[in-house]
Amino acid sequence: MASNSPLSVLLFFLLVSSSYAAIPSASSIVQAVALLKWKSSLQNQTHSLLPSWTLDPNNATNSSSHIKRRGPPCNWVGITCNMAGSVTEINLASRSLRGTFHYFNFSSFPSLVRLDLNGNSFSGSIPNHIGNLSKLVYLDLSINQLSGKIPSNIGLLTRLRILYLDQNHIDGSIPQEIGNLRSLNELTLYINNLTGSIPTSLGNLSNLTILYLHDNQLSGFIPAEIGNLINLIKLDMPTNHLTGSIPSTIGNLTKLTYLSLFENQLSGSIPPEVGKLRSLNELTLNNNNLTGLIPTSLGEIPKELGRLTSLFHLNLSNNKLVGGIPLEIGLLYQLDHLDLSTNNLSGPIPGQLGNCSRLLQLDLSKNNFRETIPYQIGNLANLQVLLDLSQNSLAGEIPSKLGDLHNLEKLNISHNKLCGSIPSTFVEMVSLTVVDISYNELEGPLPNIKAFQDATEEAFKNNKGLCASIRGLQPCISDTKEGQNVVVLIVLSLLGALFLIIGCIGIFYIFRPIARNVEKEPNKTNSKNLFSIWSHDGRMVCKDIIEVTEDFSNEYCIGVGGYGSVYIAKLLTGQVVAVKKLHPSQNGEMADLKTFKSEICALTEIRHRNIVKLYGFCSHVRHSFLVYEYLERGSLAKILSKVEGAKELDWMKRISVVKGVAYALSYMHHDCSPPIAHRDITSNNILLDSEYQARLSDFGTARLLRYDSSNWTSLAGTYGYVAPELAYTMKITTKCDVYSFGIVALEVIMGTHPGELISSLSSSSLVSSSIGQNILLKDVLDQRISLPIFHVAQEVVSIVKLASACLHTSPQCRPTMQEVSQKLSTPMTHFMEPFNTITLGHLLNLNM
Ligand SMILES: *[C@@H]1O[C@H](CO)[C@@H](O)[C@H](O)[C@H]1NC(C)=O
Ligand SMILES: *[C@@H]1O[C@H](CO)[C@@H](O)[C@H](O)[C@H]1NC(C)=O
Ligand SMILES: *[C@@H]1O[C@H](CO)[C@@H](O)[C@H](O)[C@H]1NC(C)=O
Ligand SMILES: *[C@@H]1O[C@H](CO)[C@@H](O)[C@H](O)[C@H]1NC(C)=O
Ligand SMILES: *[C@@H]1O[C@H](CO)[C@@H](O)[C@H](O)[C@H]1NC(C)=O
Ligand SMILES: *[C@@H]1O[C@H](CO)[C@@H](O)[C@H](O)[C@H]1NC(C)=O
Ligand SMILES: *[C@@H]1O[C@H](CO)[C@@H](O)[C@H](O)[C@H]1NC(C)=O
Ligand SMILES: *[C@@H]1O[C@H](CO)[C@@H](O)[C@H](O)[C@H]1NC(C)=O
Ligand SMILES: *[C@@H]1O[C@H](CO)[C@@H](O)[C@H](O)[C@H]1NC(C)=O
Ligand SMILES: *[C@@H]1O[C@H](CO)[C@@H](O)[C@H](O)[C@H]1NC(C)=O
Ligand SMILES: *[C@@H]1O[C@H](CO)[C@@H](O)[C@H](O)[C@H]1NC(C)=O
Ligand SMILES: *[C@@H]1O[C@H](CO)[C@@H](O)[C@H](O)[C@H]1NC(C)=O
Repeated sequence: MASNSPLSVLLFFLLVSSSYAAIPSASSIVQAVALLKWKSSLQNQTHSLLPSWTLDPNNATNSSSHIKRRGPPCNWVGITCNMAGSVTEINLASRSLRGTFHYFNFSSFPSLVRLDLNGNSFSGSIPNHIGNLSKLVYLDLSINQLSGKIPSNIGLLTRLRILYLDQNHIDGSIPQEIGNLRSLNELTLYINNLTGSIPTSLGNLSNLTILYLHDNQLSGFIPAEIGNLINLIKLDMPTNHLTGSIPSTIGNLTKLTYLSLFENQLSGSIPPEVGKLRSLNELTLNNNNLTGLIPTSLGEIPKELGRLTSLFHLNLSNNKLVGGIPLEIGLLYQLDHLDLSTNNLSGPIPGQLGNCSRLLQLDLSKNNFRETIPYQIGNLANLQVLLDLSQNSLAGEIPSKLGDLHNLEKLNISHNKLCGSIPSTFVEMVSLTVVDISYNELEGPLPNIKAFQDATEEAFKNNKGLCASIRGLQPCISDTKEGQNVVVLIVLSLLGALFLIIGCIGIFYIFRPIARNVEKEPNKTNSKNLFSIWSHDGRMVCKDIIEVTEDFSNEYCIGVGGYGSVYIAKLLTGQVVAVKKLHPSQNGEMADLKTFKSEICALTEIRHRNIVKLYGFCSHVRHSFLVYEYLERGSLAKILSKVEGAKELDWMKRISVVKGVAYALSYMHHDCSPPIAHRDITSNNILLDSEYQARLSDFGTARLLRYDSSNWTSLAGTYGYVAPELAYTMKITTKCDVYSFGIVALEVIMGTHPGELISSLSSSSLVSSSIGQNILLKDVLDQRISLPIFHVAQEVVSIVKLASACLHTSPQCRPTMQEVSQKLSTPMTHFMEPFNTITLGHLLNLNM
């Protein structure tokens, strides 16, 4: 080492220096010697790394031409000198240097402006003498192995504009003296082991634009003085132990584009002043203990988040935020990442989210979001990385519009209450690779796309009745032709055909046992003879009825229904009753007479102003009949079928009819225990009294006539009014009535059975919902009476909307009759659009 020692080299250098064109200054010599001394301290000498760092003229003169006339150290690699030959820059970034600053003589470089040792393996601490570099403007010691504390003398480097100490092992606290670096523009201390709190003196660095402190052990509060850094563009302090709340002064940082405080222990609510950060692109506050509302949901503090129109990244996940997503979210149209997952957010997902059309990733999982998935989510055509709505309380059907997300790769809607089938439009989600729809109430076929075929059983489990030719799922009964463009009419006729087939089979089975019964036990039926549930003179009345109708002569027949013919009977007392004579065979179906009787009893007890009174029942070997209150105006179907009737039935009367039917159904479904389903709601079974008030007839009789202890039936209802699920489930629920109600309500408004329009109005995923959506509402109304105006028009709109909800193909998605009657009886919200311009499509999207 001796011959190589800096001093001996210096002697050699002085002896040969005369051969150089440029004579180095004394300071150059001192600096060269200082550098060589430091070089010699570096591990392994690293000669090969700094070959030019030598006083050997042969080597030294071989430097690049423009510094040819300079002597050492100015002609060394990484060294720049000023005109006076004093070192101004040392740039040895990424040279695999290994060593310490122990032998670096800071006092030797009074002119040093720039020191860049980034990306080496320097270890040990930063000496306090660094403060001797009084001219230093740029100091980059990042990505090394430095440890120890940041020396307080760093505060002497008052000309410093850039201070990069990130990615070392520096510990201790940030010295208060850092506040003296008034010229500082950028300060990065991230990925170290810094402890203690953020010094308040940071607030004096008014020229700071970048402050990166993430991944340290910083604790304590974020000083309010941070708000003085009015030039700050990026503020980044995630993954520390910061506590307390986000200071409201943060709102002063109006140039901020990036604010990241995630993974701390910040509490309290997000200050509404955040709304002043108009330039913000990215806001990540996830993984804290933040509580309260997302600002803007407060009334008196409006639209804060909505003002952040430059925001493209918003991550508030993993906090304890409550309340809803502010509707102003829709103003953040630049957003590409939105993560509100794992909070306690609630309310509906605003359809306005659909305006954030640049979203690549949307995560709303693990909250309490309710109601339906807004179809507007389907507008997010750029959605690619993720759509995660899992672990909420979302209900209703999956909007078919989601099928428009052609770029989406990952979809998770598991752990909700979604029902209905998966929209056939899902076949268009060609980019989908990962899907999870487990833990919902979904049913029907899975779309025939790779994501579903490749998914494991886990992705589908705990649903209602999904089918597919995939392991773990039952095969589908009727294949939906891969769900491609299934035309409304085809679906309807398929359903209709299926319905008829099942119906026929059902009827076959109805008649078989009856025939056997009649043959085998004629006397037994006979012995039952006559019974009546009536007043004490019931037997007499039954006899009377047979007499006054002349043994049910056609002359007295006023209608024929599914279960029998209806006769008018003027009793000897003068009272007029309606008598429904049952087809003889159906009487024989009554397996359990006792239950049947008690059921009739219950029905005769029912008193509701919108339900036709059932007086009693007579059973005889020849005739069985139900005796009802007689209503002179007859059935709704009859009235609507005639022009005079239709004209008489003005909008007010029609609205009242719809309400009446809804109240009656609500009463039977929700106020009776057990609930009673009608099973055969049609315009034929709705009678009108003298005041044009609706009276529902035949309540519960469908059930009585096919009585058995289960709710399973082979056939009930009237074609055109029967809920579609009866075609394949045969499970009668009150939701079947809801569907039929929807049809009847539309029939009242349209003056005729809605027919094919049903498919446009029912939000079904099986049918292409766009058909008929452009039809004007005014054009489907009964044209025989003039258009409704003012509040009447509003009520008509509300009825059509409600009726459409009742036509949902999925029973679970239909409202209950209780909900329907509540909505009909509460004054509806006003819509702004002129009535004449409302289309059916528009109507369905109307928020009420
Ligand atoms: C010195 O260099 C050799 C080879 O270049 C290497 O294997 C060794 O680890 C280095 N020693 C130190 C202390 O860096
Ligand atoms: C000059 O450079 C050569 C080749 O890089 C090297 O082997 C030699 O040791 C250098 N001489 C001095 C005095 O540094
Ligand atoms: C010195 O420079 C010459 C030409 O510029 C080159 O051929 C030679 O290899 C260099 N010597 C060293 C030691 O780098
Ligand atoms: C460091 O440099 C200064 C000025 O060049 C000099 O006075 C001092 O002695 C040097 N210190 C050491 C330890 O070499
Ligand atoms: C260099 O820094 C040390 C420690 O702060 C100090 O004692 C010394 O006076 C300084 N030297 C010069 C020349 O500034
Ligand atoms: C911080 O210190 C701990 C132990 O005190 C150590 O395990 C960890 O690697 C250090 N982190 C950094 C970034 O230096
Ligand atoms: C802050 O920046 C401005 C504009 O670059 C400059 O004029 C001013 O001197 C700086 N302040 C300090 C304390 O460096
Ligand atoms: C900021 O600078 C002012 C002087 O300009 C000084 O009085 C104050 O103490 C400094 N604040 C902090 C927190 O260092
Ligand atoms: C900084 O914010 C606080 C609190 O929001 C406010 O009172 C103060 O006026 C703001 N200061 C400046 C300079 O804008
Ligand atoms: C949030 O606060 C609770 C107590 O209020 C505490 O137990 C929990 O560790 C905190 N979580 C975080 C991430 O700070
Ligand atoms: C939001 O933060 C969480 C937790 O740090 C992270 O897992 C998630 O990927 C982030 N979301 C986005 C959109 O960057
Ligand atoms: C979430 O909010 C609901 C009220 O909306 C509350 O009952 C519940 O305790 C909250 N859960 C948590 C974990 O804060």
